[in-house]
Amino acid sequence: MRENTIKGELKIPQHIAIIMDGNGRWAKKRLMPRSFGHKNGMERMIGLMEHAFELGVNYITVYALSTENLKRPKEELDGLFDLIRNHFKQYFGRVCERGVQLRAIGDVSLLPEDCLQILKEAEAETAQYKGKAINVAVCYGARAEIVRAANRAMEKGETLTEESFSRLLYTEDQPDPDLIIRTGKEVRLSNFLLWQAAYAELYFSDKMFPEFSDKDLDKAIEEYSRRTRRFGKTDEQL
Ligand code: FPP
Repeated sequence: MRENTIKGELKIPQHIAIIMDGNGRWAKKRLMPRSFGHKNGMERMIGLMEHAFELGVNYITVYALSTENLKRPKEELDGLFDLIRNHFKQYFGRVCERGVQLRAIGDVSLLPEDCLQILKEAEAETAQYKGKAINVAVCYGARAEIVRAANRAMEKGETLTEESFSRLLYTEDQPDPDLIIRTGKEVRLSNFLLWQAAYAELYFSDKMFPEFSDKDLDKAIEEYSRRTRRFGKTDEQL
């Protein structure tokens, strides 16, 4: 599962995960409300997904809302929920109609009922697609995901291996992310995919998410291509 496909001189990551940070600062600089930043962020996210699938990426995970983000002011949260209500179907439909499965990862039961239904419908409509997927992390926290997996294992009374534990996570049947990108100048993982990130290459961009272009994604992939992934081995063993 870890092999990369080659496109020209580039190694294309199978799975890219993105921490889409900086929507708020991007909007503030333009004297606009944070919701304007999130709307533009959502449009950029869809553009990046289309570009990444065209390059040959098969799995994309986006951090749309963390469990901690749920403590944000009601007005901002309502803006994000309105994006799901008003735009989710149309935007994600555009990407998923090319045979991409959609999966909502996180404690989606914390969402307003109508938003939850929209995500569930999108999951049901795309469930038949295999080999390409978008994971939308909403009400997501990696520690909570790990605790959930541990509880599921205890219920089954299983002795765990790393592989069997991985299958209890939201990303159960998917390869781990090869490349994790964070925009917005911060250099941390913020409780995102902590188990799955064990051997991911990390890439940090100073750009705010709404201005992270397709070309910026190409640059991240070029940088990824130049890195040697040893998975704990020596250069000679590769
Ligand atoms: C972090 O930037 C971004 C978020 C909390 C929301 C990200 C959401 C989207 C890009 C689109 C929405 C997608 C769905 C499915 C609803 P920030 O607001 O923390 O920015 P800041 O650090 O500049 O304040």
